[in-house]
Amino acid sequence: MIISARGLRKDFTVNRKVGRFRRERHVVSAVDGVDLSVERGEMLGYIGPNGAGKSTTLKMLTGVLTPSGGEVTVCGLAPVAKRTTLARRIGVVFGQRSQLWWDLPLAESFSLLRHIYRVPDSDHAARLKMCSQLLALDEFIETPVRQLSLGQRMRGELTAALLHGPEVLFLDEPTIGLDVLSKQAVRDFLAGVATRGDTTVVLTTHDLADIEKLCRRLVVIDHGRVVHDGTVDELHARYRSRRVIVADLDTPWPDGLTLPGADVTSVTADGHRVTLALDGATAGEVVAALAGAVPLRDLSVQEPEIEDVIAKLYRS
Ligand SMILES: Nc1ncnc2c1ncn2[C@@H]1O[C@H](COP(=O)(O)OP(=O)(O)O)[C@@H](O)[C@H]1O
Ligand SMILES: [Mg+2]
Repeated sequence: MIISARGLRKDFTVNRKVGRFRRERHVVSAVDGVDLSVERGEMLGYIGPNGAGKSTTLKMLTGVLTPSGGEVTVCGLAPVAKRTTLARRIGVVFGQRSQLWWDLPLAESFSLLRHIYRVPDSDHAARLKMCSQLLALDEFIETPVRQLSLGQRMRGELTAALLHGPEVLFLDEPTIGLDVLSKQAVRDFLAGVATRGDTTVVLTTHDLADIEKLCRRLVVIDHGRVVHDGTVDELHARYRSRRVIVADLDTPWPDGLTLPGADVTSVTADGHRVTLALDGATAGEVVAALAGAVPLRDLSVQEPEIEDVIAKLYRS
C-alpha cells in the first residue's frame, strides 16, 4: 500500500460575519473522515464538486497541511513529519501554485530542480528527453516561464514533477483552464505514465472526461466524505445507468411491440423514432431483434454519460 489514510480529517476555523458587527467562530469540516488505500501503480481519480475537500486531502497527503485527525502514510512515511524525505519520493502539481522559477527559462528551472533533488545526471537527462518528446517541450524550453501559455506551463509543471523519478505523482486539477489541445496533450501524457505502471498517480479533477480517459478507479467525495470508491462501471451499475439505442424507422413503431432484454423508453409522436434502454441484452442482440421486427433507417448506440451518474450521486 503506497498511500493509506484512515479517518483523515481537516477542520478549518473561520470567522463568519453575523449581522453588521458581530463575528462568529465557525468550524468547517473540509475533510470529514476519509479512508483511502492506494496500491503501487494505481491511477486514481479523486473527484467531487467545488469545495468537496479534494485539494485539502491532497495537501494532507503531500505534507503541506497537518491533519486535524486520523492517520495517513505515503510511501510508508508520515507526510508532515517527514516532509523533506517524502518530497524526494513524490511529485506534486497544484494547478494554482508553480514549482517553476518565473523569470527563468524552463530549461534552467529543470536544472535547478536536478540540483535540489540531487538527481544523477544521466537519470535527469533520460527523463527530460522522454518528457520533452511526449510533451513537445522543445518549442518553448528556452522561454521564461512567465511568458508561457497556461498549456505550455502545465506541460513544464508535469515535467518538473517527474524529473526526480517520483513513486507517486499528485495532480490537483491538471487540466483546469487549458485549451482543448493542451488538455489532450496532458491526458495522453498521463495515460502513458499510467500504462508504464511504475508511478502511482492521484488526480483530482472536476473534468469527468479526464477520469473516463485515464482512471479505472474513481473515488468521489462530497462534503469531505467518500461517497463512492470503485470503477466507473461499478458506478454505472450502482445507479442503473444503461446504454441506450436510438433507432429511426421507415414505418411507425408497432404499438405494444417489445424486445427481450431492452425497455422501450420513448417513441416519438409520429412513431418513426424509438429509444430503447438495454436491460440484460447486448447492443448487438437488440439491434438484430430490431432489424428483424421493423425496417430500420438509422441507428445509434449511446453510452451512459458519466456526468449524469455523478449528478445523481451528488443529489442522493
Ligand atoms: N485555508 C482554509 N481556510 C478555511 N477554509 C478552507 C481553507 N481551505 C479550504 N477551506 C474550505 O474547505 C472546504 C474544502 O475546500 P477544498 O479542499 O479546496 O475543496 P475542493 O478542492 O474540493 O474544491 C471548502 O469549504 C473551503 O472553503
Ligand atoms: Mg481544489
